[in-house]
Amino acid sequence: MAPGLRQHHLLGISELTREEIELIFHRAEAYLPYCRSAQHRLPDLRGKTVVLAFFEPSTRTRVSFELAARRLSADVVSFQAAASSLAKGESLFDTVQTLEAMGIDALVIRHRASGVPWLLRRFLACSIINAGDGQHEHPTQALLDGFTLWKYFGRLQGLRVCIVGDVLHSRVARSNIALLRLSGAEVAVCGPATLLPQNAEQVWGVRVFWNLREAVKWADVLNVLRLQRERMESGLVASSEEYHRFFGITEQVVTWNPAVRILHPGPVNYGVELVPEVALGANSHIRQQVPHGVAIRMAVLSLLLGGG
Ligand code: NCD
Repeated sequence: MAPGLRQHHLLGISELTREEIELIFHRAEAYLPYCRSAQHRLPDLRGKTVVLAFFEPSTRTRVSFELAARRLSADVVSFQAAASSLAKGESLFDTVQTLEAMGIDALVIRHRASGVPWLLRRFLACSIINAGDGQHEHPTQALLDGFTLWKYFGRLQGLRVCIVGDVLHSRVARSNIALLRLSGAEVAVCGPATLLPQNAEQVWGVRVFWNLREAVKWADVLNVLRLQRERMESGLVASSEEYHRFFGITEQVVTWNPAVRILHPGPVNYGVELVPEVALGANSHIRQQVPHGVAIRMAVLSLLLGGG
């Protein structure tokens, strides 16, 4: 078992304690000076092999896991699903067992089906890290979002965070809500009724705002989400233009609460959920989220694999 974490997998925020989240934040803070430069490679994971298996598109998450593993001197293999024997009909199960038989220490997996990392845990001995399973969990994204707020505010306890947009289809929302509530923050969601889960108050313990102006006035932080059309049945939003008119975060929206902080996990669809002026403006932390993603993934890898 890795020192400080009770498990050697990271599947969902629901499996972490508040103390473990803080431990990951402190480790990430220590790694932050090293996450930008390849000149100061740390020896913490020398001799370990990390496999990245992404069965869904990804830019930030895949690259930042790869950089994180390399900054800690691990060997990294990026498995290309489209170019593999999966295309010849091999099952996911046989594929990952073959990878493990080559002697790997960690499997970082993203898959469109919710629950895949939990299924694999039953069969594999290596550490499994969930890099996003369907619309279910994306724990390292929630950790990097939480870390970004923790660095800015010095705490999560008592913060008011509103998740704006397509909450229904979002694993980022589910993992953020779990992490923020566990850390003592107040959480709300805001968006069109078709994109919010039913009974969100009772089921998720969050406040629901139907009106963006009320949400913005209430919040310390807006975590803004993309419309995840790849997971949507048709007809949930009339058009991107209409969505933007009611829920898009513009410079005018920020004037309703000039202190409000803005997060976005990326990729951004400019002109729909967010405009570039706000994404690049003084309220935004989107630029910091990217290096924080590398530092958080360095922390997770080293705590799970026993380095550092
Ligand atoms: C998110 C994801 O893949 O769930 N992006 C990410 O990991 N940076 C959010 C999204 O795709 O909108």
